Amino acid sequence: MNKKWFLLAFSSSVIALSLLSSCSRNNPDSSGVEYMPDMYRSPSYEDNSFNPLFPDSMTDRVPVKGTVPVGFTPDPFPNTPEGWANAAQYWKDPFAASPEVVAQGKAIFDVYCVHCHGATGMGDGKVAAKLPGPPPPYSGPALRNITEGEMYQTLEYGKNLMGSHASQLTVEQRCKVIRYVQTLQKLGQSSDTAKTASSEKKDSVKKG
Ligand code: HEC
Repeated sequence: MNKKWFLLAFSSSVIALSLLSSCSRNNPDSSGVEYMPDMYRSPSYEDNSFNPLFPDSMTDRVPVKGTVPVGFTPDPFPNTPEGWANAAQYWKDPFAASPEVVAQGKAIFDVYCVHCHGATGMGDGKVAAKLPGPPPPYSGPALRNITEGEMYQTLEYGKNLMGSHASQLTVEQRCKVIRYVQTLQKLGQSSDTAKTASSEKKDSVKKG
């Protein structure tokens, strides 16, 4: 009997204590007494926070010099005339032009390229009109015969008004978007010859 009373008294005082400690009249936002605080509050340092352990007081560290992020292998061809010539001849897209790869390339194109190059690669994207010279059509005389290696160099280093996309796109994304650009190169030539002819005229007017 004694035991029973003791257990009852003990458990009711635990409940009463926990109820009382979970509210605080002074601070309604307080969560009360914390049992094992480091379960709630991680002792590790948060991103972008002060850190007394490093001389510069910053938690975020700069990667070791020469670190290559996964997926951003440097271009083997340098940004020199020989580099471009060699890439044009020897760089080969490792992805086959399968419907899946082309579809993935289109998804990348629709985010990173369409505003300048236009949905069909005619150089009539919304931003193109604001450029001093819009991009030439992929299927026009200037670009219809460029190789995948030249495209890769353009994505890596940029060309004239087109900036480098080396920091935005992984190597894989660049290879896939090139496969899609190739479909646009052909598209204008086969199914849309009339349009191509007129854009060629525009091209020559611009050049002339
Ligand atoms: C800011 C507008 C802009 C964006 C964004 C842009 N381009 Fe371009 N692009 C241009 C212009 C302008 C040229 C013409 C460069 C020149 O030859 O003067 C060009 C040229 C090219 C060429 C031809 C390069 C050559 O060798 O002559 C390719 C291929 C190309 N772009 C692909 C892309 C792809 C793929 C994307 C998206 C990942 C992209 N561009 C994003 C403006 C843009």
